[in-house]
Amino acid sequence: MMLTLVCAMLCVSACVASCPLRCECSGAQRTVHCASAALLRVPAAIPSDASSLIITGNAIHRLDHSAFSGLQNVTHLNLSNNGIMEIGSHAFSSLLTLRSLILNNNQLVLIHPEAFSVPGSPLQELSLRASLYNYSSLTDLMTALRWGELTNLLRLDLSGNRFVLLPPGMFAPLPNLQHLHLRNNSLVAIYNGTFSGIEQLLELDLTGNAFRTISDEGLRELEQFSGVRLLLGQNPYVCTCEAQELANWLNSSKVRVGDADRLYCEFPAARRDVSLRGLSAQALGCYGKVHEEITDLSLQTSYVFLGLVLGFVGMVFLFVVYLNRKGIKKWITDIYEACQNVLEGYHHRYEIDSDPRLGRVSHGQQQGRPQMDQRLAHISTDARISQIPSDVTL
Ligand SMILES: *[C@@H]1O[C@H](CO)[C@@H](O)[C@H](O)[C@H]1NC(C)=O
Ligand SMILES: *[C@@H]1O[C@H](CO)[C@@H](O)[C@H](O)[C@H]1NC(C)=O
Ligand SMILES: *[C@@H]1O[C@H](CO)[C@@H](O)[C@H](O)[C@H]1NC(C)=O
Ligand SMILES: *[C@@H]1O[C@H](CO)[C@@H](O)[C@H](O)[C@H]1NC(C)=O
Ligand SMILES: *[C@@H]1O[C@H](CO)[C@@H](O)[C@H](O)[C@H]1NC(C)=O
Ligand SMILES: *[C@@H]1O[C@H](CO)[C@@H](O)[C@H](O)[C@H]1NC(C)=O
Repeated sequence: MMLTLVCAMLCVSACVASCPLRCECSGAQRTVHCASAALLRVPAAIPSDASSLIITGNAIHRLDHSAFSGLQNVTHLNLSNNGIMEIGSHAFSSLLTLRSLILNNNQLVLIHPEAFSVPGSPLQELSLRASLYNYSSLTDLMTALRWGELTNLLRLDLSGNRFVLLPPGMFAPLPNLQHLHLRNNSLVAIYNGTFSGIEQLLELDLTGNAFRTISDEGLRELEQFSGVRLLLGQNPYVCTCEAQELANWLNSSKVRVGDADRLYCEFPAARRDVSLRGLSAQALGCYGKVHEEITDLSLQTSYVFLGLVLGFVGMVFLFVVYLNRKGIKKWITDIYEACQNVLEGYHHRYEIDSDPRLGRVSHGQQQGRPQMDQRLAHISTDARISQIPSDVTL
């Protein structure tokens, strides 16, 4: 009797002690809940049989290697809203059965390349909503996705991270990804390779980004997702002629755009809230114009190209000139001198022919001419026509 009581007391104290201070442990679900408990680090005394760990609203700035040691039965870990700035190497690697990792609303500045490495790659869901501090963290994340060998990851949520562009091949290390959420970012374009390597995809959410249109290249990239549920709503689509490709694509593509009827124009003002899908080329007022624009563009391109070629030729020419500057100088001097000689000769003759007085001399007095020529030659070597003495007009 006494022994049983002692045993019961021991058990109670052990059970109470095994739930961390300011946390709640609900035995049946083996859930540990530490919400807004002003924790500065992951508590040490978490029951080793916990399967769900929810630590939210605290001030845990760093997750280290040993943060979760001995918790190999945790399958769900929610670390939302803790102001986490840094995730160290192998921060989760003792969580051998971790399937779902929620890191929403943090300020990740540093993500170690091996932050998400867990032996056996058990992770199926990773959520980083509004969690990356800036664009540098995106580079970190990309590296961590590659090094983490997350081959079983099915869901990735990167919503609300102010992404403008996604590096090509970013998701390629996630071959089994099925759900990719990129809502509420600032994405402006999709390129060849943006979504390469995720052939198992079932859902791609691009709602609430900054797409004004989707280029040909982007449409071709999306075309690979024939069975995928694609969401493109709440983007500021511009409904001018350029939108025609997109409008046609929406009507004809085999890609399933889940919210195709809820894509609206934002600009120009006259077409605001008009459905993008319903817009025909006629409604956009661009029959014939499209072709014109294309030729115009190709003409512009060829002008630019011509300009570049000419510029290049010019530069090569100048360079050659520069290299041969001594030779050219000599050559020019030679030519200059030769010209000067020739010109002097011409000048001389011109002086004789153009002076009416001299002309009269040469015509009127044929006999006296040899004499005159001699005399003039003598004068013009050092005198101008104005200086010819007046007695020349005989
Ligand atoms: C983890 O779960 C397994 C299977 O449910 C169980 O056998 C094991 O005792 C648990 N480990 C701990 C430390 O509770
Ligand atoms: C994680 O915790 C936050 C804050 O308590 C909660 O709002 C959210 O629903 C939880 N997410 C999951 C997937 O459990
Ligand atoms: C991101 O923030 C970190 C820390 O403040 C800073 O060192 C880094 O230069 C920032 N990167 C960008 C691209 O702004
Ligand atoms: C979108 O993301 C921004 C920045 O992360 C956030 O402040 C805002 O609350 C989010 N909006 C919605 C509707 O989720
Ligand atoms: C996309 O890029 C790949 C190589 O990265 C190339 O083989 C392919 O032709 C490109 N596709 C288009 C449509 O440009
Ligand atoms: C798309 O289809 C709708 C109805 O099926 C039609 O009204 C609209 O004109 C079509 N748009 C284009 C660009 O073909």
